[in-house]
Order: sequence, then structure tokens, then C-alpha cells
Amino acid sequence: MLSNLTTIQKSFFGGSFNLMKNTFAISKGEIRGLFSNQLKKISDPKMREKVVEAWKLGCDQGGWKTVSDLTNMPFTLLTETKGINFVEHTIAVTEGAYGLAKAQLDTYKNKQPYPINLDVVVAGGLIHDVGKLVEYGFDENGNYQQARYGKILRHPFSGTLIAKEAGFNGDILNCIACHAKEGENRPQLMETILIHQADFSTFTPMKYLAAKKLIPFKN
Ligand SMILES: [Fe+2]
Repeated sequence: MLSNLTTIQKSFFGGSFNLMKNTFAISKGEIRGLFSNQLKKISDPKMREKVVEAWKLGCDQGGWKTVSDLTNMPFTLLTETKGINFVEHTIAVTEGAYGLAKAQLDTYKNKQPYPINLDVVVAGGLIHDVGKLVEYGFDENGNYQQARYGKILRHPFSGTLIAKEAGFNGDILNCIACHAKEGENRPQLMETILIHQADFSTFTPMKYLAAKKLIPFKN
């Protein structure tokens, strides 16, 4: 529907189309609003800002114009999502990974066998799927579909490129590049392992639900 609107704007407003397009861009303030509770958990302000920048780049490069484009977007096109959207998924995965990290840190205390950086867990969680902003697009009827670029590069690849462009360097890129099947048997940060587990704890039940393999608990 929005792609139709864009076409109408293009022909109607002619030369001022770019101005219209900018009017409909998703702002950094709106992105901060979507993830305010999670961004608060990142102690490093530079890292916090890079998360927002990565989302801004993804929204602009993907051509998403309004927050509702994001809150209507299914979090995966690989199975039925029962209305759970891309923003909710990102929050659930981030909070899930954070909870897993805290569970170990608070329980193991001075026996903690490996370091866990909570800033990286939260920032990595928030950007783990940022590549989906360019992997997905609208078809001619306004339905979400895999964009052509998504066929060229799946989101772990495109998301890594976006994060790099947003100023993330080095280790945290592993959280994006290796959070999905691309990371299987690859060396991983502890933070990547947590994000992967939180991610699949939201994806696998949906797949099982669709295949009627999810067993509801009965007493
Ligand atoms: Fe995900």
C-alpha cells in the first residue's frame, strides 16, 4: 500500500518527491522511542548512538517511511508469526539474551568462566536483525516480501555491512554475522551465543506451531 502511495507521490509531486520522501523517513527519535527501555541498558553512549545509527541506515536503505512499516512487519517470512512484529521480536530477543546473561553472571559470580559484556549483549541484540530492513520490502500490493537484495545477501551479511557503516568495528559484528544458521560451527563471542539462543527461542516455537509439533502443557 505504501509503495503505491510512493508511486502516487512520485507522479503527483514530481520534482518535490525527494522532499516528500524525506518527510516520510523514520527519524532517530522514533527509533530511540521504539527501543528506549533497551537502549537505557547500554552504558556506553557511543555504542547506544551507533545502534540508533544502524537502525536509521537500515530504515533509509530499506525505504521504510513510517514506524508502522516496522510495527506491521512480520519478524520472519519463513513461517507464520501470529502478528508478532519485527520490533517486538527485536525487543524480545534483546531482553531474552540480557536475561540469559544476567542469570549466569548473578549465579556464577566469581566462578564466571568467561566474560560477558552486557553492553554488547544489548547492542548486539538490538542490531542482530537490522539486515532484515534491507532483506525485506513491499510487493506491488503492499505485502511484505523478500526484496531482491535479500536474495543476494541474507540479513546476517547485509546487517553486518550496515553495522560497519554505522561505526561498529571488530568483535560486535560477530553478533550479527553469526547469530543465525550462517554461524553454525563458527567461532562465536559468548554474546553471540546468547543472542542466537534468545533468537531461536522465539523462532523455533513458531515453526513448531505451524507444523503442529508444539505440545501444549497439560496437567
Ligand atoms: Fe532475529
